[in-house]
Amino acid sequence: MNSPTETSAWQSLQLHSAQFKHPDFKLVQLLNSTPERFQQFSLRHDNLLLDFSKNLATAETLDLLVELALQQQVPAAIEAMFTGAHINHSEQRPALHVALREPPAASRFPVVQTTLDRMQALVNAVQSGTKCGFSGKPFTDIVNLGVGGSDLGPALVVSALQPSRNQQLRTHFVSNIDPAHIDGVLAALNPETTLFIVASKTFTTLETLHNAQFARHWLEAHAGAAAAVPRHFLAATANAEAALAFGIDNTHILPLWDWVGGRFSMWSAIGLPIALTLGMKSFRQLLAGAHSMDQHFYSAEPRHNMPVLLALIAIWYRGFFDSHSSAVIPYSQALRLLPTYLQQLSMESLGKSVDASHRPVTHLTGEPVWGAVGTDIQHSCGQLLHQGSNFIPVDFIVAAKATTTTDKVAHQQLLANCLGQSLALMQGYRDENAPFRNLAGNKPSNTLLMKALDPYNLGSLLALYEHKVYVQSVIWNINAFDQWGVELGKKMSRELFVAVSGQQANTALDASTRNLIDCARDWDK
Ligand code: F6P
Repeated sequence: MNSPTETSAWQSLQLHSAQFKHPDFKLVQLLNSTPERFQQFSLRHDNLLLDFSKNLATAETLDLLVELALQQQVPAAIEAMFTGAHINHSEQRPALHVALREPPAASRFPVVQTTLDRMQALVNAVQSGTKCGFSGKPFTDIVNLGVGGSDLGPALVVSALQPSRNQQLRTHFVSNIDPAHIDGVLAALNPETTLFIVASKTFTTLETLHNAQFARHWLEAHAGAAAAVPRHFLAATANAEAALAFGIDNTHILPLWDWVGGRFSMWSAIGLPIALTLGMKSFRQLLAGAHSMDQHFYSAEPRHNMPVLLALIAIWYRGFFDSHSSAVIPYSQALRLLPTYLQQLSMESLGKSVDASHRPVTHLTGEPVWGAVGTDIQHSCGQLLHQGSNFIPVDFIVAAKATTTTDKVAHQQLLANCLGQSLALMQGYRDENAPFRNLAGNKPSNTLLMKALDPYNLGSLLALYEHKVYVQSVIWNINAFDQWGVELGKKMSRELFVAVSGQQANTALDASTRNLIDCARDWDK
Protein backbone atom coordinates (compact mmCIF):
# COMPACT_ATOMS: atom_id res chain seq x y z
CA MET A 1 0.00 0.00 0.00
CA ASN A 2 1.18 3.49 -0.88
CA SER A 3 0.92 6.84 0.74
CA PRO A 4 -2.39 8.41 -0.35
CA THR A 5 -0.49 11.48 -1.49
CA GLU A 6 1.14 9.38 -4.22
CA THR A 7 -2.19 8.47 -5.82
CA SER A 8 -3.57 10.26 -8.86
CA ALA A 9 -6.85 10.77 -6.99
CA TRP A 10 -5.01 12.75 -4.30
CA GLN A 11 -3.42 15.00 -6.93
CA SER A 12 -6.81 15.58 -8.55
CA LEU A 13 -8.43 16.35 -5.21
CA GLN A 14 -5.67 18.87 -4.52
CA LEU A 15 -6.53 20.79 -7.68
CA HIS A 16 -10.26 20.32 -7.18
CA SER A 17 -10.19 21.75 -3.63
CA ALA A 18 -9.25 25.25 -4.85
CA GLN A 19 -12.81 26.13 -5.91
CA PHE A 20 -14.08 25.73 -2.33
CA LYS A 21 -11.47 28.20 -1.05
CA HIS A 22 -12.41 30.93 -3.51
CA PRO A 23 -13.82 34.05 -1.78
CA ASP A 24 -17.00 33.82 -3.87
CA PHE A 25 -17.76 30.23 -2.99
CA LYS A 26 -21.04 29.82 -1.11
CA LEU A 27 -21.93 26.43 0.33
CA VAL A 28 -25.53 27.44 0.68
CA GLN A 29 -25.70 28.01 -3.09
CA LEU A 30 -24.71 24.40 -3.71
CA LEU A 31 -27.87 23.39 -1.91
CA ASN A 32 -30.09 26.07 -3.42
CA SER A 33 -28.93 25.53 -6.98
CA THR A 34 -29.23 21.72 -7.00
CA PRO A 35 -32.76 20.60 -6.10
CA GLU A 36 -31.75 16.94 -5.95
CA ARG A 37 -28.75 17.60 -3.69
CA PHE A 38 -30.33 16.17 -0.56
CA GLN A 39 -31.16 12.93 -2.40
CA GLN A 40 -27.61 12.72 -3.76
CA PHE A 41 -25.92 13.68 -0.52
CA SER A 42 -27.82 11.62 2.03
CA LEU A 43 -27.98 7.97 2.89
CA ARG A 44 -30.28 5.88 5.03
CA HIS A 45 -29.51 2.61 6.72
CA ASP A 46 -32.06 1.11 9.09
CA ASN A 47 -33.02 3.88 11.49
CA LEU A 48 -30.10 6.17 10.73
CA LEU A 49 -30.21 8.96 8.18
CA LEU A 50 -26.89 10.57 7.28
CA ASP A 51 -27.28 13.99 5.68
CA PHE A 52 -23.93 15.02 4.26
CA SER A 53 -25.31 17.69 1.93
CA LYS A 54 -23.93 20.56 4.05
CA ASN A 55 -20.36 19.72 3.04
CA LEU A 56 -17.88 21.49 0.79
CA ALA A 57 -18.40 18.92 -1.92
CA THR A 58 -19.94 18.46 -5.34
CA ALA A 59 -20.75 15.25 -7.19
CA GLU A 60 -17.26 15.47 -8.68
CA THR A 61 -15.74 15.70 -5.21
CA LEU A 62 -17.50 12.50 -4.22
CA ASP A 63 -16.33 10.77 -7.39
CA LEU A 64 -12.73 11.75 -6.70
CA LEU A 65 -12.94 10.73 -3.05
CA VAL A 66 -14.40 7.35 -4.01
CA GLU A 67 -11.58 7.01 -6.54
CA LEU A 68 -9.12 7.68 -3.71
CA ALA A 69 -10.78 4.91 -1.66
CA LEU A 70 -10.45 2.52 -4.59
CA GLN A 71 -6.82 3.46 -5.25
CA GLN A 72 -6.08 2.85 -1.56
CA GLN A 73 -7.74 -0.59 -1.78
CA VAL A 74 -10.54 0.10 0.69
CA PRO A 75 -12.77 -2.76 -0.57
CA ALA A 76 -9.90 -5.25 -0.14
CA ALA A 77 -9.21 -3.84 3.33
CA ILE A 78 -12.84 -4.34 4.33
CA GLU A 79 -12.62 -7.92 3.10
CA ALA A 80 -9.40 -8.37 5.07
CA MET A 81 -11.04 -7.14 8.25
CA PHE A 82 -14.04 -9.45 7.97
CA THR A 83 -11.98 -12.50 7.03
CA GLY A 84 -9.60 -12.12 9.95
CA ALA A 85 -6.43 -11.06 8.14
CA HIS A 86 -3.71 -9.57 10.34
CA ILE A 87 -4.80 -5.97 9.84
CA ASN A 88 -3.15 -5.04 13.15
CA HIS A 89 0.27 -5.16 11.46
CA SER A 90 2.51 -4.20 14.35
CA GLU A 91 1.05 -6.85 16.64
CA GLN A 92 0.47 -9.39 13.87
CA ARG A 93 -3.17 -10.14 14.67
CA PRO A 94 -6.65 -9.62 13.33
CA ALA A 95 -9.09 -7.02 14.59
CA LEU A 96 -12.25 -9.07 14.50
CA HIS A 97 -14.72 -7.14 16.65
CA VAL A 98 -17.29 -7.71 13.89
CA ALA A 99 -17.26 -11.41 14.87
CA LEU A 100 -18.54 -10.47 18.33
CA ARG A 101 -21.74 -9.16 16.74
CA GLU A 102 -22.55 -12.05 14.44
CA PRO A 103 -25.99 -13.54 15.16
CA PRO A 104 -25.75 -16.96 16.88
CA ALA A 105 -26.80 -18.88 13.77
CA ALA A 106 -24.06 -17.25 11.66
CA SER A 107 -21.37 -17.05 14.33
CA ARG A 108 -17.90 -18.21 13.32
CA PHE A 109 -16.62 -18.46 16.89
CA PRO A 110 -18.40 -20.89 19.23
CA VAL A 111 -16.42 -19.33 22.10
CA VAL A 112 -18.19 -16.00 21.47
CA GLN A 113 -21.57 -17.67 21.84
CA THR A 114 -20.59 -19.63 24.95
CA THR A 115 -19.34 -16.41 26.50
CA LEU A 116 -22.65 -14.70 25.71
CA ASP A 117 -24.44 -17.66 27.30
CA ARG A 118 -22.28 -17.32 30.40
CA MET A 119 -23.02 -13.60 30.51
CA GLN A 120 -26.71 -14.42 30.26
CA ALA A 121 -26.44 -16.89 33.16
CA LEU A 122 -24.59 -14.35 35.31
CA VAL A 123 -27.11 -11.62 34.51
CA ASN A 124 -30.00 -13.95 35.41
CA ALA A 125 -28.32 -15.00 38.63
CA VAL A 126 -27.58 -11.42 39.73
CA GLN A 127 -30.95 -10.04 38.68
CA SER A 128 -32.89 -12.85 40.34
CA GLY A 129 -30.82 -12.64 43.52
CA THR A 130 -29.56 -16.25 43.20
CA LYS A 131 -26.09 -14.80 43.13
CA CYS A 132 -25.88 -12.51 46.13
CA GLY A 133 -23.49 -10.84 48.53
CA PHE A 134 -21.74 -12.31 51.59
CA SER A 135 -24.71 -11.69 53.90
CA GLY A 136 -27.27 -13.21 51.53
CA LYS A 137 -28.74 -9.90 50.35
CA PRO A 138 -29.24 -9.36 46.59
CA PHE A 139 -26.84 -7.02 44.82
CA THR A 140 -28.06 -3.44 44.41
CA ASP A 141 -24.93 -1.81 42.96
CA ILE A 142 -22.36 -2.77 40.36
CA VAL A 143 -19.00 -1.02 40.18
CA ASN A 144 -17.02 -1.42 36.96
CA LEU A 145 -13.28 -1.00 37.54
CA GLY A 146 -11.68 -0.35 34.16
CA VAL A 147 -10.14 2.40 32.08
CA GLY A 148 -10.00 3.39 28.40
CA GLY A 149 -11.75 0.79 26.28
CA SER A 150 -12.65 -1.16 29.40
CA ASP A 151 -14.64 1.81 30.68
CA LEU A 152 -15.71 4.32 28.03
CA GLY A 153 -17.94 2.16 25.81
CA PRO A 154 -19.88 0.49 28.63
CA ALA A 155 -20.16 3.81 30.51
CA LEU A 156 -21.53 5.50 27.39
CA VAL A 157 -24.09 2.78 26.65
CA VAL A 158 -25.28 2.50 30.24
CA SER A 159 -25.76 6.25 30.55
CA ALA A 160 -27.31 6.53 27.08
CA LEU A 161 -29.95 3.87 27.75
CA GLN A 162 -30.79 4.65 31.37
CA PRO A 163 -34.57 4.60 30.82
CA SER A 164 -34.44 0.89 29.96
CA ARG A 165 -32.28 -0.09 32.92
CA ASN A 166 -33.09 -2.70 35.55
CA GLN A 167 -34.52 -0.60 38.37
CA GLN A 168 -33.01 -2.81 41.12
CA LEU A 169 -29.43 -2.34 39.98
CA ARG A 170 -27.40 0.84 39.86
CA THR A 171 -24.14 0.80 37.91
CA HIS A 172 -21.10 2.95 38.62
CA PHE A 173 -17.84 3.34 36.73
CA VAL A 174 -14.49 3.94 38.38
CA SER A 175 -11.60 4.55 36.00
CA ASN A 176 -9.22 7.07 37.52
CA ILE A 177 -6.40 6.26 39.94
CA ASP A 178 -7.25 9.53 41.66
CA PRO A 179 -8.54 8.09 44.96
CA ALA A 180 -11.33 10.67 44.94
CA HIS A 181 -12.99 8.67 42.17
CA ILE A 182 -13.39 5.38 44.00
CA ASP A 183 -13.86 7.09 47.38
CA GLY A 184 -16.72 9.13 45.94
CA VAL A 185 -18.45 6.08 44.50
CA LEU A 186 -17.97 3.75 47.48
CA ALA A 187 -19.04 6.37 50.02
CA ALA A 188 -22.66 5.86 49.02
CA LEU A 189 -22.54 2.04 48.71
CA ASN A 190 -23.17 -0.88 51.02
CA PRO A 191 -20.45 -3.58 50.88
CA GLU A 192 -23.07 -6.28 51.49
CA THR A 193 -24.80 -5.50 48.20
CA THR A 194 -21.99 -4.26 45.94
CA LEU A 195 -20.62 -6.33 43.06
CA PHE A 196 -17.33 -5.35 41.41
CA ILE A 197 -16.29 -6.09 37.84
CA VAL A 198 -12.57 -5.92 37.11
CA ALA A 199 -12.61 -5.05 33.41
CA SER A 200 -9.15 -5.27 31.93
CA LYS A 201 -8.09 -7.05 28.77
CA THR A 202 -4.50 -7.33 30.01
CA PHE A 203 -5.18 -7.42 33.76
CA THR A 204 -1.98 -5.39 34.13
CA THR A 205 -3.31 -1.82 33.91
CA LEU A 206 -2.09 0.19 36.90
CA GLU A 207 -5.23 2.21 37.49
CA THR A 208 -7.59 -0.76 37.31
CA LEU A 209 -5.49 -3.08 39.45
CA HIS A 210 -4.92 -0.41 42.09
CA ASN A 211 -8.65 0.31 42.27
CA ALA A 212 -9.38 -3.43 42.42
CA GLN A 213 -7.02 -3.77 45.42
CA PHE A 214 -8.69 -0.78 47.07
CA ALA A 215 -12.13 -2.34 46.51
CA ARG A 216 -10.88 -5.66 47.87
CA HIS A 217 -9.71 -4.00 51.12
CA TRP A 218 -12.97 -2.07 51.45
CA LEU A 219 -14.94 -5.31 51.13
CA GLU A 220 -12.65 -7.42 53.31
CA ALA A 221 -13.12 -4.98 56.18
CA HIS A 222 -16.80 -5.95 56.19
CA ALA A 223 -17.00 -9.41 54.65
CA GLY A 224 -13.72 -10.96 55.73
CA ALA A 225 -11.12 -12.28 53.32
CA ALA A 226 -12.82 -15.61 52.60
CA ALA A 227 -16.00 -14.16 51.11
CA ALA A 228 -14.99 -10.78 49.71
CA VAL A 229 -13.31 -11.53 46.41
CA PRO A 230 -14.89 -14.93 45.61
CA ARG A 231 -18.45 -13.62 46.08
CA HIS A 232 -18.20 -9.97 45.11
CA PHE A 233 -15.85 -9.87 42.14
CA LEU A 234 -16.33 -10.68 38.47
CA ALA A 235 -13.68 -10.20 35.79
CA ALA A 236 -13.67 -9.65 32.05
CA THR A 237 -10.16 -10.29 30.78
CA ALA A 238 -7.92 -12.06 28.30
CA ASN A 239 -5.54 -12.80 31.19
CA ALA A 240 -7.48 -15.37 33.23
CA GLU A 241 -4.34 -16.44 35.10
CA ALA A 242 -3.88 -12.99 36.60
CA ALA A 243 -7.56 -12.78 37.53
CA LEU A 244 -7.32 -16.18 39.25
CA ALA A 245 -4.18 -15.04 41.07
CA PHE A 246 -6.15 -12.02 42.30
CA GLY A 247 -8.57 -14.51 43.84
CA ILE A 248 -11.49 -14.23 41.44
CA ASP A 249 -13.47 -17.43 41.11
CA ASN A 250 -13.00 -19.27 37.83
CA THR A 251 -16.75 -19.20 37.15
CA HIS A 252 -16.69 -15.42 37.55
CA ILE A 253 -14.02 -14.83 34.90
CA LEU A 254 -15.32 -14.10 31.40
CA PRO A 255 -12.84 -14.22 28.54
CA LEU A 256 -11.95 -11.96 25.67
CA TRP A 257 -9.31 -12.57 23.08
CA ASP A 258 -6.25 -10.92 21.56
CA TRP A 259 -8.21 -10.28 18.35
CA VAL A 260 -10.47 -7.83 20.22
CA GLY A 261 -8.86 -4.41 20.60
CA GLY A 262 -9.52 -2.56 23.87
CA ARG A 263 -11.43 0.33 22.27
CA PHE A 264 -13.48 -2.15 20.23
CA SER A 265 -14.28 -4.43 23.16
CA MET A 266 -17.63 -3.30 24.57
CA TRP A 267 -19.30 -5.99 22.41
CA SER A 268 -17.44 -8.70 24.35
CA ALA A 269 -17.52 -9.61 28.04
CA ILE A 270 -16.29 -6.05 28.64
CA GLY A 271 -19.97 -5.21 27.98
CA LEU A 272 -20.99 -7.08 31.16
CA PRO A 273 -22.02 -3.88 32.99
CA ILE A 274 -24.28 -3.09 30.03
CA ALA A 275 -25.86 -6.54 30.18
CA LEU A 276 -26.29 -6.40 33.97
CA THR A 277 -27.80 -2.93 33.91
CA LEU A 278 -29.98 -3.10 30.81
CA GLY A 279 -30.57 -6.85 30.58
CA MET A 280 -29.25 -9.37 28.11
CA LYS A 281 -32.07 -8.66 25.66
CA SER A 282 -30.90 -5.06 25.28
CA PHE A 283 -27.28 -6.16 25.02
CA ARG A 284 -28.20 -8.52 22.19
CA GLN A 285 -30.13 -5.70 20.48
CA LEU A 286 -27.02 -3.53 20.73
CA LEU A 287 -25.05 -6.34 19.03
CA ALA A 288 -27.78 -6.74 16.39
CA GLY A 289 -27.70 -3.03 15.55
CA ALA A 290 -23.92 -3.13 15.22
CA HIS A 291 -24.15 -6.27 13.08
CA SER A 292 -26.59 -4.56 10.75
CA MET A 293 -24.09 -1.73 10.25
CA ASP A 294 -21.34 -4.36 9.74
CA GLN A 295 -23.39 -5.95 6.96
CA HIS A 296 -23.96 -2.58 5.32
CA PHE A 297 -20.26 -1.74 5.59
CA TYR A 298 -19.30 -5.11 4.13
CA SER A 299 -21.70 -5.09 1.21
CA ALA A 300 -22.45 -1.51 0.13
CA GLU A 301 -20.38 0.00 -2.65
CA PRO A 302 -18.16 2.89 -1.48
CA ARG A 303 -20.40 5.65 -2.89
CA HIS A 304 -23.36 4.38 -0.86
CA ASN A 305 -21.46 3.13 2.16
CA MET A 306 -22.05 5.22 5.27
CA PRO A 307 -18.79 4.53 7.14
CA VAL A 308 -16.78 4.95 3.92
CA LEU A 309 -18.46 8.27 3.14
CA LEU A 310 -17.92 9.60 6.67
CA ALA A 311 -14.26 8.60 6.44
CA LEU A 312 -13.80 10.19 3.01
CA ILE A 313 -15.34 13.46 4.18
CA ALA A 314 -13.01 13.50 7.18
CA ILE A 315 -10.01 12.75 4.95
CA TRP A 316 -11.08 15.49 2.54
CA TYR A 317 -11.00 18.14 5.25
CA ARG A 318 -7.85 16.93 6.98
CA GLY A 319 -5.94 16.49 3.74
CA PHE A 320 -7.02 19.51 1.73
CA PHE A 321 -8.36 22.05 4.24
CA ASP A 322 -5.94 21.34 7.14
CA SER A 323 -8.90 20.89 9.46
CA HIS A 324 -7.70 21.74 12.93
CA SER A 325 -9.93 19.22 14.72
CA SER A 326 -13.38 17.78 14.39
CA ALA A 327 -16.32 18.26 16.70
CA VAL A 328 -19.08 15.84 17.55
CA ILE A 329 -22.21 17.31 19.06
CA PRO A 330 -24.96 14.95 20.16
CA TYR A 331 -28.28 16.65 20.79
CA SER A 332 -29.35 14.21 23.46
CA GLN A 333 -28.47 14.50 27.11
CA ALA A 334 -28.26 10.71 27.19
CA LEU A 335 -25.36 10.83 24.71
CA ARG A 336 -23.26 13.24 26.74
CA LEU A 337 -20.45 10.67 27.03
CA LEU A 338 -20.31 10.08 23.27
CA PRO A 339 -17.58 12.69 22.56
CA THR A 340 -15.27 11.15 25.17
CA TYR A 341 -15.87 7.68 23.80
CA LEU A 342 -15.19 8.84 20.23
CA GLN A 343 -12.03 10.59 21.38
CA GLN A 344 -10.47 7.28 22.38
CA LEU A 345 -11.86 5.46 19.34
CA SER A 346 -10.53 8.02 16.90
CA MET A 347 -7.46 9.50 18.56
CA GLU A 348 -5.96 6.25 19.90
CA SER A 349 -6.56 4.65 16.50
CA LEU A 350 -5.50 7.47 14.19
CA GLY A 351 -2.87 9.35 16.20
CA LYS A 352 -0.03 7.74 14.22
CA SER A 353 2.96 9.08 12.31
CA VAL A 354 4.42 6.03 10.60
CA ASP A 355 2.75 4.05 7.86
CA ALA A 356 2.21 0.31 7.55
CA SER A 357 5.80 -0.08 6.26
CA HIS A 358 7.14 1.90 9.24
CA ARG A 359 8.02 4.93 7.11
CA PRO A 360 7.16 8.43 8.37
CA VAL A 361 3.87 9.59 6.85
CA THR A 362 3.94 12.65 4.60
CA HIS A 363 0.38 13.78 5.29
CA LEU A 364 -1.72 14.71 8.29
CA THR A 365 -3.34 11.78 10.10
CA GLY A 366 -5.88 11.75 12.94
CA GLU A 367 -7.11 15.09 14.13
CA PRO A 368 -8.11 16.02 17.69
CA VAL A 369 -11.75 15.13 18.31
CA TRP A 370 -13.78 17.08 20.81
CA GLY A 371 -17.35 17.97 21.53
CA ALA A 372 -20.08 18.20 24.10
CA VAL A 373 -23.79 17.85 24.31
CA GLY A 374 -26.12 20.25 22.56
CA THR A 375 -27.69 22.60 23.52
CA ASP A 376 -25.11 23.17 26.31
CA ILE A 377 -22.25 23.55 23.86
CA GLN A 378 -24.02 26.43 22.10
CA HIS A 379 -23.44 28.45 25.26
CA SER A 380 -19.76 27.57 25.61
CA CYS A 381 -17.68 26.41 22.64
CA GLY A 382 -20.20 27.29 19.93
CA GLN A 383 -18.82 30.81 19.57
CA LEU A 384 -15.49 29.47 18.32
CA LEU A 385 -17.19 27.22 15.78
CA HIS A 386 -19.08 30.18 14.33
CA GLN A 387 -16.54 32.99 14.47
CA GLY A 388 -13.21 31.42 15.37
CA SER A 389 -10.29 31.19 12.96
CA ASN A 390 -9.99 27.39 12.85
CA PHE A 391 -11.57 25.08 10.30
CA ILE A 392 -13.55 22.53 12.31
CA PRO A 393 -16.07 20.22 10.62
CA VAL A 394 -18.90 19.09 12.87
CA ASP A 395 -20.98 15.94 13.22
CA PHE A 396 -24.42 16.63 14.68
CA ILE A 397 -26.33 13.66 16.06
CA VAL A 398 -29.98 13.87 17.05
CA ALA A 399 -32.87 11.48 17.66
CA ALA A 400 -36.26 12.07 16.04
CA LYS A 401 -38.10 10.66 19.02
CA ALA A 402 -37.63 12.04 22.52
CA THR A 403 -35.96 9.72 25.04
CA THR A 404 -38.59 10.71 27.61
CA THR A 405 -42.12 11.72 26.74
CA THR A 406 -42.59 14.29 29.45
CA ASP A 407 -42.18 17.40 27.30
CA LYS A 408 -42.68 17.11 23.56
CA VAL A 409 -42.22 20.83 23.00
CA ALA A 410 -38.79 20.74 24.64
CA HIS A 411 -37.74 17.92 22.32
CA GLN A 412 -38.93 19.92 19.31
CA GLN A 413 -36.87 22.85 20.60
CA LEU A 414 -33.88 20.53 20.88
CA LEU A 415 -34.25 19.42 17.26
CA ALA A 416 -34.72 23.02 16.11
CA ASN A 417 -31.54 24.01 17.92
CA CYS A 418 -29.56 21.20 16.32
CA LEU A 419 -30.74 22.10 12.83
CA GLY A 420 -30.26 25.79 13.62
CA GLN A 421 -26.59 25.24 14.35
CA SER A 422 -25.80 23.44 11.10
CA LEU A 423 -27.77 26.04 9.17
CA ALA A 424 -25.97 28.94 10.86
CA LEU A 425 -22.57 27.33 10.27
CA MET A 426 -23.37 26.87 6.59
CA GLN A 427 -25.16 30.14 5.89
CA GLY A 428 -23.24 32.63 8.00
CA TYR A 429 -24.34 36.22 8.48
CA ARG A 430 -23.21 39.56 7.08
CA ASP A 431 -23.62 43.00 8.65
CA GLU A 432 -21.64 45.66 6.73
CA ASN A 433 -21.84 48.13 9.62
CA ALA A 434 -20.83 45.78 12.40
CA PRO A 435 -18.10 43.33 11.32
CA PHE A 436 -17.95 41.88 14.82
CA ARG A 437 -21.39 40.42 14.08
CA ASN A 438 -20.25 38.67 10.89
CA LEU A 439 -20.25 34.91 10.67
CA ALA A 440 -18.24 33.69 7.71
CA GLY A 441 -20.45 30.68 6.95
CA ASN A 442 -19.34 27.87 4.58
CA LYS A 443 -18.61 25.74 7.64
CA PRO A 444 -19.36 22.10 6.89
CA SER A 445 -21.26 19.57 8.94
CA ASN A 446 -22.84 16.12 8.78
CA THR A 447 -26.13 15.45 10.50
CA LEU A 448 -26.97 11.96 11.71
CA LEU A 449 -30.66 11.67 12.44
CA MET A 450 -31.56 8.60 14.47
CA LYS A 451 -35.15 7.42 14.69
CA ALA A 452 -34.94 6.80 18.43
CA LEU A 453 -32.17 6.29 20.94
CA ASP A 454 -32.56 2.57 21.65
CA PRO A 455 -30.04 -0.29 21.96
CA TYR A 456 -30.31 -1.37 18.32
CA ASN A 457 -29.82 2.12 16.87
CA LEU A 458 -27.04 2.94 19.32
CA GLY A 459 -25.25 -0.26 18.27
CA SER A 460 -25.51 0.83 14.64
CA LEU A 461 -24.24 4.32 15.41
CA LEU A 462 -21.17 3.10 17.31
CA ALA A 463 -20.30 0.50 14.67
CA LEU A 464 -20.61 3.26 12.07
CA TYR A 465 -17.89 5.28 13.80
CA GLU A 466 -15.69 2.20 14.34
CA HIS A 467 -15.75 1.48 10.62
CA LYS A 468 -15.26 5.13 9.71
CA VAL A 469 -12.04 5.10 11.74
CA TYR A 470 -10.85 1.91 10.06
CA VAL A 471 -11.41 3.34 6.58
CA GLN A 472 -9.51 6.50 7.53
CA SER A 473 -6.60 4.34 8.64
CA VAL A 474 -6.65 2.34 5.41
CA ILE A 475 -6.57 5.44 3.23
CA TRP A 476 -3.87 7.03 5.36
CA ASN A 477 -2.00 3.70 5.33
CA ILE A 478 -1.58 3.57 9.11
CA ASN A 479 -2.43 0.95 11.74
CA ALA A 480 -5.70 1.74 13.55
CA PHE A 481 -5.35 -1.11 16.01
CA ASP A 482 -2.20 -0.49 18.03
CA GLN A 483 -1.41 2.25 20.57
CA TRP A 484 2.33 2.18 21.22
CA GLY A 485 2.27 5.88 21.98
CA VAL A 486 0.79 5.32 25.42
CA GLU A 487 3.53 2.96 26.62
CA LEU A 488 6.35 5.42 27.34
CA GLY A 489 4.18 7.45 29.71
CA LYS A 490 3.29 4.28 31.62
CA LYS A 491 7.00 3.43 31.98
CA MET A 492 7.86 6.97 33.09
CA SER A 493 5.12 6.94 35.71
CA ARG A 494 6.42 3.68 37.15
CA GLU A 495 9.93 5.12 37.33
CA LEU A 496 8.82 8.42 38.84
CA PHE A 497 6.67 6.76 41.49
CA VAL A 498 9.76 5.86 43.52
CA ALA A 499 10.79 9.53 43.60
CA VAL A 500 7.27 10.88 44.23
CA SER A 501 6.79 8.44 47.11
CA GLY A 502 10.20 9.29 48.55
CA GLN A 503 11.62 5.76 48.18
CA GLN A 504 14.49 6.99 46.07
CA ALA A 505 16.31 10.30 45.63
CA ASN A 506 15.41 12.21 42.51
CA THR A 507 18.81 13.74 41.81
CA ALA A 508 19.17 12.03 38.42
CA LEU A 509 16.03 13.69 37.08
CA ASP A 510 15.78 16.79 34.89
CA ALA A 511 15.36 20.10 36.73
CA SER A 512 11.71 20.58 35.86
CA THR A 513 10.54 17.15 37.02
CA ARG A 514 12.81 17.27 40.09
CA ASN A 515 11.59 20.66 41.26
CA LEU A 516 7.95 19.79 40.70
CA ILE A 517 8.37 16.64 42.79
CA ASP A 518 10.20 18.54 45.54
CA CYS A 519 7.54 21.23 45.70
CA ALA A 520 4.66 18.72 45.69
CA ARG A 521 6.29 16.69 48.48
CA ASP A 522 6.94 19.86 50.46
CA TRP A 523 3.37 21.12 50.12
CA ASP A 524 1.99 17.70 51.01
CA LYS A 525 3.77 17.56 54.40
O1 F6P B 1 -3.27 2.39 27.73
C1 F6P B 1 -4.19 2.35 26.69
C2 F6P B 1 -5.00 1.13 26.79
O2 F6P B 1 -4.19 0.05 26.44
C3 F6P B 1 -6.24 1.16 25.92
O3 F6P B 1 -6.00 0.84 24.61
C4 F6P B 1 -7.12 0.21 26.64
O4 F6P B 1 -8.45 0.35 26.24
C5 F6P B 1 -6.87 0.61 28.06
O5 F6P B 1 -5.50 0.91 28.10
C6 F6P B 1 -7.21 -0.41 29.12
O6 F6P B 1 -6.51 -1.60 28.95
P1 F6P B 1 -6.90 -2.92 29.73
O7 F6P B 1 -8.29 -3.30 29.30
O8 F6P B 1 -5.90 -3.93 29.34
O9 F6P B 1 -6.87 -2.62 31.19
